[in-house]
Amino acid sequence: MAPQNELRRNEVAVAWANHVDAGLAFIGVIRTPWATRAECPHHGDPEGPVCRIEVDAPWDAALDGIETIERLEVFYWLHEARRDLVRQSPGGNGLTKATFTIRSPVRPNPIGTSIVTLVAREGPVLHVRGLDCVDCTPLLDLKPDRSHFRADPSR
Ligand SMILES: C[S@@+](CC[C@H](N)C(=O)[O-])C[C@H]1O[C@@H](n2cnc3c(N)ncnc32)[C@H](O)[C@@H]1O
Repeated sequence: MAPQNELRRNEVAVAWANHVDAGLAFIGVIRTPWATRAECPHHGDPEGPVCRIEVDAPWDAALDGIETIERLEVFYWLHEARRDLVRQSPGGNGLTKATFTIRSPVRPNPIGTSIVTLVAREGPVLHVRGLDCVDCTPLLDLKPDRSHFRADPSR
């Protein structure tokens, strides 16, 4: 399989920050059918396969009541992405785009988000549709989708 982190034609890399401003803590792991980035869908599909979000203790205690929420926003760390490109060529054809104009995983802080549908909850495990990440991608956060609050503003 072709390496995926090599600089492509016309891409522009910069010297990366030599300091870190915030420490992130992974709170679980996302299990999907896709072993590699090449196999992943480009973006989550609401009709896509059911994936598992496995929340680690003690954060499983923060899931109480989540089964009443149909749509969730999932935040994850795209851990296989390089982080130093200001211009990138997603198609690898020499045509480049500025990093902040696209949703590529390659960005200074490779945070991915998807809106997913909650299919079922089994204790600390959520079964959801709508993800697009590699198996074992680290989980950062979960929030109700905004539509949840529009349905009942008192929530
Ligand atoms: C275009 S990004 C979109 C991510 C997220 N839905 C977003 O919009 O923030 C999705 C692509 O990232 C790549 N990808 C998935 N999991 C990754 C990971 N753990 N590390 C790096 N790249 C990943 C795959 O090529 C996948 O098709």
